[in-house]
Amino acid sequence: MLVEGPVDIVTADGTTVRSDRFVVAICTCRRSRAYPWCDTSHRRRRPAGPGPGGRQQPQDGEEEPRP
Ligand code: FES
Repeated sequence: MLVEGPVDIVTADGTTVRSDRFVVAICTCRRSRAYPWCDTSHRRRRPAGPGPGGRQQPQDGEEEPRP
């Protein structure tokens, strides 16, 4: 979720974290290693079998193929 900054986020344990960026991505999937900030970990998916053209989806820990 993109929000306009600067923002103060209060986490579940009561810690307040701040970002001074103009726009900041907040993690809503809880997969981010930089939680509460989004680090694009939400893009990684489990394989759903071969898709159109027989292409496999990347598995956890693998990088997505580059175009
Ligand atoms: S929304 Fe969780 S890593 Fe992007």
